[in-house]
Amino acid sequence: MDKFVIHGGKPLFGEVPVSGAKNAAVAIIPAAIMVNGVCRIENIPMVSDVLIQMEILRELGCGVRVIAPNTIEIDSRGLKSSVATSDLNRRMRASYYLIGAFLGRFHRAEVAMPGGCNFGGVRPIDQHMKGFEALGAKMDIRNGIVCADASQGLTGANVYLDVASVGATMNIMLAACLAEGQTVIENAAKEPHIVDLANFLNSMGADIMGAGTDVIKIRGVKALQGGFYSIIPDQIEAGTYMAAVAAAGGSVLVKGIIPKHMDCITAKLEEMGCEISEEEDNIRVTRSGPTHKIQVKTMYYPGFPTDMQPQLAAALCLAQGTSVVTEGVWENRFRYSDELRRMGARIQVDGKVAVIEGVEKLTGAPVRASDLRAGAALVIAGLAAEGVTEIEEIGYIERGYEDIVEKLRRLGADITRVTVADTPAMAKAN
Ligand code: EPU
Repeated sequence: MDKFVIHGGKPLFGEVPVSGAKNAAVAIIPAAIMVNGVCRIENIPMVSDVLIQMEILRELGCGVRVIAPNTIEIDSRGLKSSVATSDLNRRMRASYYLIGAFLGRFHRAEVAMPGGCNFGGVRPIDQHMKGFEALGAKMDIRNGIVCADASQGLTGANVYLDVASVGATMNIMLAACLAEGQTVIENAAKEPHIVDLANFLNSMGADIMGAGTDVIKIRGVKALQGGFYSIIPDQIEAGTYMAAVAAAGGSVLVKGIIPKHMDCITAKLEEMGCEISEEEDNIRVTRSGPTHKIQVKTMYYPGFPTDMQPQLAAALCLAQGTSVVTEGVWENRFRYSDELRRMGARIQVDGKVAVIEGVEKLTGAPVRASDLRAGAALVIAGLAAEGVTEIEEIGYIERGYEDIVEKLRRLGADITRVTVADTPAMAKAN
């Protein structure tokens, strides 16, 4: 088992490039199976979740080639199967997008129930099922497999989501693209990756309007054709590096972002006392003095993203005063707090609320990531802490952060990726 070893306490300086958005890529790759042609997709983040998705498509019989760094081509013309039940599908949450994509293309689907990051709470898919049923599919779950049958065809319908679910919005959008007539999704999610998926589908010939608002209208088309697309930058990856500066200090230019996507994160870091300036598609974050307590509640976009909650909480461990962090999206997303406590953080969690009393310093400790963003929070804490932090279960972190070790090293961080068999003296930089 590999781990990250961080000698903390060094401020970060320099520039960091932002990769393509992981949560857009994991929807756009399965969407490519609905396209009757070749899709060239640029700005693909080469993280393990994306590599698994590419492998799933290959298992299904699609041609998937990496033709340049971060650029892939997917050829789904030869695809015959609408069954994705291998173990790979269980390894990631986003495999559920195959249900919508198969339904659109074949009017049937059998997909293993998704796995993915475990925050310790329930991750239901009832809203996806409700949407597919509205379009005319019979839905069933048998032996851990989601079975969908729309042999009579898919017909556009009005779907009101009880929760503004990202996954359900995208999944219903996929199936509706190739349905007969118009589908309207109300109370749709508005996250940037929803807009990105809609833009991808539209560039392949779909007719989707309103993505990015809470009402999305999809007029079904007969077929989608191949084309080119470039994925948006990752809002959460960018925010993670910004939170790292808030915790460890320094001044970093985060390069290649969409400034509007960063507003919800920027606002909170400024409230903490960081200086932030936008320069076209870059954003500079500087922390020269102490940071201060804030209150934050995670919400659907354009609110503060739940996927930034652990990283911000890590930075708040070192802010002056007592901060209150409320999780408004997931049942339970504070499992990382036990690990931060090992490093000297003062965090009390009660249900969906964490109360963080800022301390003067954190100290390095052996800790374990429990999910992707929890792992990112531990990296941030390790960068800011005095002494050595060793993070286990880094596989979670590598699901969503491309080249994190190399990117941080270029900012002056002392972080290495080592295998457990290595002694510290033999530690290899990665
Ligand atoms: N929900 C339902 N029923 C459903 C679907 C969701 O009740 O059918 C509830 C969930 O229990 C949760 C809320 O709705 O309380 C939001 O869930 P959503 O469906 O929006 O989440 P998701 O699509 O499963 C994606 C991201 C997550 C991110 C959430 C919220 C992907 C692959 N995952 O998950 O990203 O936290 O949206 O923004 O896009 C991450 O990147 O670390 C990550 C976990």
